[in-house]
Amino acid sequence: YEIYLNGLGGAVPRLPTDLTRLEELTERRLGPGPAGYVAGSAGDGSTARANRAALERRRTVPRMLRDVHERDLSVEVLGRSLPAPLALAPVGVLSIMHPEAEPAAARAAAAQGVPYVLSSASSTPMEQVAEAMGDAERWFQLYWPKDPEVARSFLGRAKAAGYSVLVVTLDTPLLAWRPRDLDQAYLPFLHGVGTANYFSDPAFQAGLAKPVHEDPNAAVLHFVNLFSDPGKTWPDLAFLRENWDGPIVLKGILHPDDARLALDAGMDGVIVSNHGGRQVAGSIAAADALPRVAGAVGDRMTVLFDSGIRTGGDMFKALALGADAVLVGRPYVYGLALDGRAGVEHVIRCLLAEFDLTLALSGHAGPGTVGADDIEEA
Ligand code: FNR
Repeated sequence: YEIYLNGLGGAVPRLPTDLTRLEELTERRLGPGPAGYVAGSAGDGSTARANRAALERRRTVPRMLRDVHERDLSVEVLGRSLPAPLALAPVGVLSIMHPEAEPAAARAAAAQGVPYVLSSASSTPMEQVAEAMGDAERWFQLYWPKDPEVARSFLGRAKAAGYSVLVVTLDTPLLAWRPRDLDQAYLPFLHGVGTANYFSDPAFQAGLAKPVHEDPNAAVLHFVNLFSDPGKTWPDLAFLRENWDGPIVLKGILHPDDARLALDAGMDGVIVSNHGGRQVAGSIAAADALPRVAGAVGDRMTVLFDSGIRTGGDMFKALALGADAVLVGRPYVYGLALDGRAGVEHVIRCLLAEFDLTLALSGHAGPGTVGADDIEEA
């Protein structure tokens, strides 16, 4: 009600409370390179559109006269209690959006008690982001580097810096065909943005002939070479299990058989995601993949979801389709681009407030009772 009360008191929010409007505002604010990088997607953009359409096509079916006057949004996910079924998705290179970059987003998440997932490709070293967060919940996303020494070093650093859950992104062994970036010849990495975790890493540095500052071009090339590895297969997951003693979640799962393989490999969860439509143009919408994945493994491992969440109503739908919690990507990045840390907090607070209202108005006192019966395909 705070947002309503402020509004009624004449304090109009600095950013729109309809978060779907943030994209257009950001496009106007940022230059064509950064705007294209964040708002763009793979190929003809059809997967990103399908992500939205798959959520919009589903409609919730509210129930009346259930006591919802006291509500509790908290959930248990991966053995930790979260204040709500929401986390900030890993997004790299945030310095192209706002000079305060990842620490600003991380501080906003910490202030709202929402887990922050730091990208491997962040523009700030993981230790600095950790410092900005105090003891707040933080997870580390791994783009699995080709060199096992660098991978091991990343995992060791992440553990030491207090990151508790490892998120391994599997859908980006290669960067996809992204026309907006191609047309602008824009890739932040080629300017050494998003390389901070690598450049600050002793195992990475050991592979260089000269220190990073003496030959930055060679360092960027080394980064490009190590960034990921399209040769990996399921048995390789044993390496991660051996080198990480907390929960491991595989991000980018769309097929139920892959979710079963993740379970067999001793993983703790999956994130049903198509990277916000940025990888395989023409791939299944994430929300269409979710029910089958949740049906296959949902009773035995954690199932998280991202790609297309823009409102608290979307969060509700994702839970009804079988997710335990959701992550949100672009909306908070737009919030950051438009108003720094305050913009990210605005986005989180809007999502949580609208989710709370959606729960209440649909007849639920908490996320635990939301299920397949609460949703229909229109
Ligand atoms: C991403 N995403 C991403 N994922 C990841 O695992 N590591 C990363 O470094 C990045 N970087 C990244 C940059 C930008 C600009 C975007 C938009 C996305 C994907 C992200 O974690 C998430 O899967 C999607 O953003 C979810 O879709 P929505 O919420 O943006 O629709």
